[in-house]
Amino acid sequence: MSETIVQTNKLVKKYRRGKIEIYALNGVDFEALRGEIVGVVGPSGSGKTTLLNMIGGLDKPTGGTVVVDGRDLTKLDAGELADFRLKKIGFIFQFYNLLPIYTALENVEVPLSFAKVPKEEREERAFELLRLVGLETRVDHKPDELSGGEQQRVAIARALANRPSIILADEPTGDLDSESAISLMKLIRKLKEQHNQTFINVTHDPLVVQECTKVYTIRDGRIQLNEKT
Ligand SMILES: Nc1ncnc2c1ncn2[C@@H]1O[C@H](COP(=O)(O)OP(=O)(O)OP(=O)(O)O)[C@@H](O)[C@H]1O
Ligand SMILES: [Mg+2]
Repeated sequence: MSETIVQTNKLVKKYRRGKIEIYALNGVDFEALRGEIVGVVGPSGSGKTTLLNMIGGLDKPTGGTVVVDGRDLTKLDAGELADFRLKKIGFIFQFYNLLPIYTALENVEVPLSFAKVPKEEREERAFELLRLVGLETRVDHKPDELSGGEQQRVAIARALANRPSIILADEPTGDLDSESAISLMKLIRKLKEQHNQTFINVTHDPLVVQECTKVYTIRDGRIQLNEKT
């Protein structure tokens, strides 16, 4: 039960802007176990998104290590990282990046076609995922024919399509009304219970924090595990 799935060790990410160096992450030790719902909170500019980018293999750290599901990401080349992201990680980021010319169903199918899932199974799985997020009557709608919250749910269905073991979410309830936020957290809890998936949520939302099994606070690129309250 207590298998470590994500671990960072003395993680550093330094950005340079002209002569100025910014330590977005400055020695971060972070751990998530399989099946945990982890919260990451902290002020704007503290390094939260940078941490998700490192765990998701979207960007390379300046120092330290990131081990995800037994693999040291700093040792993978670009092709291996792309493959790792496709198979292991689901991203729910602030900008949904849905493809405007595709329907909701087709958008959810995109990662499945990258993973070479045959057409029929692709459609079936995409439909099932859209049902899971309560959009079974919207499968043929294009993004501009959906509300903001509905688009967010399509993005969630898409993030779950390849059954990733880790889902990284940056402000997942940011644009949702409280009813949709509650149903999203219910869904996350259900997925954790059914599939033992791990969620790492960057959030300001007390509704999300309340559902987390543990919460970290980042300040100025340094991280601390919150005491249980
Ligand atoms: N590509 C970049 N180049 C230079 N500096 C960057 C870059 N990306 C982020 N930073 C800086 O690194 C710091 C951490 O940024 P990050 O996006 O991780 O913050 P955050 O905690 O996600 O903030 P927010 O809550 O506003 O989304 C900030 O000071 C930011 O300005
Ligand atoms: Mg951010």
